[in-house]
Amino acid sequence: MSATTTKTAAAGTLFTPEEQAKLVAWTKRYPQAPMGLIEALREVQIWKGEVSLAAEAHLAALFGVTRARVREVVTFYPFFPHEKAGKHRVSLCRNLSCHLAGGEKALHHLEKALGVAEGPATADGMFSWEASECLGACDLAPAFAIDDELLGAATPTAIDAALSACRAGKAPKAVSTAKAAAPVSDKAALTKDFADPKLHTLEVYRRFGGYNAWEKARTMAPADITAEVKNSNLRGLGGAGFPVAMKWETVPPKSARQVPHILVANADESEPGCFKDRVLMERNPHALIEGLQIAARAVDADHVYIFIRGEYALQKRLLEAAVAEAKTAGLLDKDVLVMQGANAYISGCDTALLETMEGKKAWPRQPPPFPTNAGLLNWPTVVNNVETLMMLTRVIAQGGEAFAAAGVAKSGGTRCFSVSGHVEKPGVYEFPLGTPIEDLLAAAGGMKGGRPLKAVIPGGTSTPVLTPEETRGLKMDFDSLRAKGSFLGAGGVIFLDDSVDMVDVLHIIERFLWVESCGQCTPCREGSGWATRVLARMKAGKGDAGDADNLVRLSENIMGKVICALGDTVGMVAAAMIKKFRADFDRRLEKPRG
Ligand SMILES: Cc1cc2nc3c(=O)[nH]c(=O)nc-3n(C[C@H](O)[C@H](O)[C@H](O)COP(=O)(O)O)c2cc1C
Repeated sequence: MSATTTKTAAAGTLFTPEEQAKLVAWTKRYPQAPMGLIEALREVQIWKGEVSLAAEAHLAALFGVTRARVREVVTFYPFFPHEKAGKHRVSLCRNLSCHLAGGEKALHHLEKALGVAEGPATADGMFSWEASECLGACDLAPAFAIDDELLGAATPTAIDAALSACRAGKAPKAVSTAKAAAPVSDKAALTKDFADPKLHTLEVYRRFGGYNAWEKARTMAPADITAEVKNSNLRGLGGAGFPVAMKWETVPPKSARQVPHILVANADESEPGCFKDRVLMERNPHALIEGLQIAARAVDADHVYIFIRGEYALQKRLLEAAVAEAKTAGLLDKDVLVMQGANAYISGCDTALLETMEGKKAWPRQPPPFPTNAGLLNWPTVVNNVETLMMLTRVIAQGGEAFAAAGVAKSGGTRCFSVSGHVEKPGVYEFPLGTPIEDLLAAAGGMKGGRPLKAVIPGGTSTPVLTPEETRGLKMDFDSLRAKGSFLGAGGVIFLDDSVDMVDVLHIIERFLWVESCGQCTPCREGSGWATRVLARMKAGKGDAGDADNLVRLSENIMGKVICALGDTVGMVAAAMIKKFRADFDRRLEKPRG
């Protein structure tokens, strides 16, 4: 039998002709297969509730890779569970902000309502459930989703209603649930028009001046766009704060290698405490598409992608609708394809993201070469965060210098902060860089119930914790946070009141890092697992006298010995937490220190 006949026979029994046509379409969507493999596997998982060995073999043949390679992908990503999933997959977040808002209780309610443990499907095959390590919705805490449709806060009533709707045959559909993205500062550049609920449509976006910046940039030389961005002091808003123009300038000229250039919007946003990209894409998808056109011109990109985390189903739909509208209106010089991940946090790390896009497991690459030289498919690739790209529309509209003036030296303009935890009004708030943290807290309605502040995690749970004394008058910009030994990161600020126990907090953070570690570097893989086990023991009141010191020393054994920042985080956050809140850890010793 020829290979083609085998393929057809397998497809005949495994997939309907329509399904097979969809799978084949994924092999052709991108410049090279096996790009598209992960999205094809996602389809199979959704259609069948699992990716069987036969399906793996079928996709291996279709994408021209080995079966082992497909297996490696399927076993890596959480979107493909080890057991057959129910018709509807319920995810409930158990990470920090959701935990603080009663996530554990909500999980118990869900488990009781479904009558099965986490993982396997209910007897009727209708449901399975998972405790998620972060749904990017700390403003809705405790957040839950069904089939990646974010349904808001997981109150018992909301859970019961959603399950009943599914039982009645009504597929869940996320509706806009974003809280507070309205402008809170007169300097707000990105969120200034967010009060209009129809901003996501082209008509309203244009009414507010949308695509004017792109029309201006279209007449500018690429080098002049980059120069304007340099004047703006715009720094990457995805975590590292790297100057945007400086990154772009490392892209070699086309003539040097004569290969396509790639531009990717990083919309993976999976850092606990961060949800601003979700809200920004939901409220204003055209700003991302406009920013991408500007950046594509500056870096001479041939292919433009938005890589979005699997859990942002509504945002994906809105982005695709916006791309279609802008295309029909003749506004796009470069088409934009939205590519979906498979629910792994590590895919947000730029080099791991490229591996995911190439249809592989998300193992970060060890630079050099850096992506701007050799990125996707080895071609020069610029990866920028969603918010960074959106800000380009403001840089071009206002001019670089005017944009820079809103911020502080070396950190131009404004940024959107995701504020969550023990605050009255969690949400996204845009402020100039350098704004005192007290203004953020005030915008978020202050501490919940007026309780005293115990600690602040300033940039997502991967950033070292700060004490109230350290936050007094603290200016929220990259360099001020560094001076305090922490990071602004992706701007996910979590306020914690005096009811929290730092052993619980650190346990949640280390468990997240352990679950999400890609496993490539031994110190990260083993260190995060060890820390999680020790902290679970401490939580149970069975800590050993040396535990806290050993946790502090963890950073010496990991920092600088791993490929990506996730590994560095494992030791760094533990050291800060224990040094600053030692009493909480000492309370959990089996025999108190004498
Ligand atoms: C473990 C890990 C996860 C990351 N997740 C994200 C993410 O979800 N979104 C993002 O924009 N950047 C993320 N980053 C940072 C990216 O590697 C990269 O620096 C960023 O996308 C560049 O865009 P920017 O310069 O505009 O910030 C992550 C980095 C690491 C190490």
